[in-house]
Amino acid sequence: MLVPDIIIAVDGYSSTGKSSFAKLLAKEFSFLYLDSGALYRGVTLFAQENGLIAADNAIDLPGLEKALESLDLHFENVDGKSMLFTGGRNIEKEIRTMKVSSQVSPIAAVGFVRAFVDEKLRGFGRDKRVVMDGRDIGTTVFPDAEIKLFMTASVEVRSQRRFDELQAKGENPDMAEVMKNLQERDYIDSHREVSPLVQAPDAFVLDNSSMTFAEELAWVRGVIQGKFGILE
Ligand code: CDP
Repeated sequence: MLVPDIIIAVDGYSSTGKSSFAKLLAKEFSFLYLDSGALYRGVTLFAQENGLIAADNAIDLPGLEKALESLDLHFENVDGKSMLFTGGRNIEKEIRTMKVSSQVSPIAAVGFVRAFVDEKLRGFGRDKRVVMDGRDIGTTVFPDAEIKLFMTASVEVRSQRRFDELQAKGENPDMAEVMKNLQERDYIDSHREVSPLVQAPDAFVLDNSSMTFAEELAWVRGVIQGKFGILE
């Protein structure tokens, strides 16, 4: 049996390897991979570039709400990789900097920003066969997703992963700052009023602190087989 037309929701804390794992799953099952965090990062970059976040981090909410009416954010396939664009501009690299990371969680806590992103995500998932990663995919965006995974790992392991990732991209990260940013985002994401990061009751938990990708894949195949029968 092949994997049926389903939605796989992958939620969890920052730097748990959600996106690498979700990409791997999408490749394995020939599904579309969608990164919901990229859209929150895209809105944050847009707000920063348009002076909608003041030096004291206050967000110009009316300005942002108005600006979102005409903000285009979409994914394009570039050399086999899904990248975020606004109009004709590829912003994939800019949205991954520490500068964006440092302001994304307050932006993602704003109700109308979430409504803007949710609408896009539901459109992208209309035809099923998607793996979507984020914080609230299995709880709010697709509460009926057939398979829900909740990923976690120790904060030390997660900080090291994010540190390595930033270094590989040519940034010069500070380990203490990386860990502080992860902890702050975990806190804001789990405590915000709108769609907080919580584990869906029907989600399968994966702590991958010391797992290889091959082990993670074997684990998820087991989860899918438990629900739908033996895979080819
Ligand atoms: O890469 P990392 O896991 O650190 O974060 P991300 O998936 O790129 O998401 C960046 C931020 O967007 C998160 O810290 C959340 O504040 C927010 N986010 C969210 O609120 N809901 C989602 N579905 C995805 C991201």
